[in-house]
Amino acid sequence: MPAYFGLDIGSTSIKLIQTDGDKVKSIGIEPNQFGKNISGMTNSEKISLTDTLKNMIKDSGVRERKVVASIPESSVFSRVLKFPVMSSPELATAIRWELDQAVPFPPSEVETSWSVLEKPDKFDGSEKISVYVVAVPSNISETYVQILELIGVEPVRLENEVPSLSRAFAENLNDTSPTAIIDWGASGTNIVVAGKTKLFGNFYVPVGGSTMTKLVADAFGLPLDQAENYKRTYGFSKDQLDGKMMVVLKPIIDNIIGEIKKLIISYNDEHSGNLVSKLIITGGGAYLPGLIPYLSEAAGIEVVVGDPFSQMSLDAKYKNLGPVFAIASGLAMQ
Ligand SMILES: Nc1ncnc2c1ncn2[C@@H]1O[C@H](COP(=O)(O)OP(=O)(O)OP(=O)(O)O)[C@@H](O)[C@H]1O
Ligand SMILES: [Mg+2]
Repeated sequence: MPAYFGLDIGSTSIKLIQTDGDKVKSIGIEPNQFGKNISGMTNSEKISLTDTLKNMIKDSGVRERKVVASIPESSVFSRVLKFPVMSSPELATAIRWELDQAVPFPPSEVETSWSVLEKPDKFDGSEKISVYVVAVPSNISETYVQILELIGVEPVRLENEVPSLSRAFAENLNDTSPTAIIDWGASGTNIVVAGKTKLFGNFYVPVGGSTMTKLVADAFGLPLDQAENYKRTYGFSKDQLDGKMMVVLKPIIDNIIGEIKKLIISYNDEHSGNLVSKLIITGGGAYLPGLIPYLSEAAGIEVVVGDPFSQMSLDAKYKNLGPVFAIASGLAMQ
């Protein structure tokens, strides 16, 4: 059993899990009472959050005091970048240059890591080196470390969401025919194209379920909690409420599907023959009634709900929450 638990502090819900093989040993989920990520919280909100976290740890019964926690994609720079074939020192300079353009912090205030994903064996002038680059502002990782220390746990590792998302489903993935994995959260949507051991591309769209709820609230003149119920009950269907839900939600859903298609097409263009043939959807957005058939049709691809609990034994009350525990489950894995 890993000597740590996974902790995913989402903008609407906080998930904690420890697994041992196919058993869930400890688990907990609580609302994030501030409805935002840690990077947007005031100091007093962060202090209240630590109380929530301490209670969650106590109630879940988790004994370990070591944790692997996620940092949201919205707080980091995380991207598969392509470069012409070049030497390692040249590559380091090229990555630095890309980061200088994309990251609004001086290099001394950012923790950067990168790994080469694909490097051509022989060179005819057209091949590219593909590199996964992650840059985390130091003040963000320091805030996470401080919060974890305040709740009495030791971070083994902090990780952005892309690696944990692919790890959660790695068993079902294949390097020669990759899968698109979508985490449709509240504040944003993560799109990853990955195989069993390889990451091929990723993109973060800063739009998710919260924006949908706000649009429903505006369109129907409802308070947010009622709009949330409307969304969950009527979903994305032209047969509900005279098709008005469809009209309200379609632009935002089409926008996200457009980004998913762009990433899939970019992979398919570069790897003729080994095409992305499946899409796994996770996160609370995966429950939106009517979304899956629409997504499957619009993206022209088989869509399945990603459920890390499908083969796990756990307390029945959590059994249908697998999709929202995808990131936490990936964090908790060895
Ligand atoms: N049955 C449902 N139908 C439609 N949407 C749902 C349903 N259940 C949950 N959601 C939506 O899922 C979102 C919460 O999912 P999740 O827990 O994955 O988000 P989060 O991790 O807190 O957010 P983020 O990762 O963006 O910070 C909310 O926007 C909520 O409205
Ligand atoms: Mg999330």
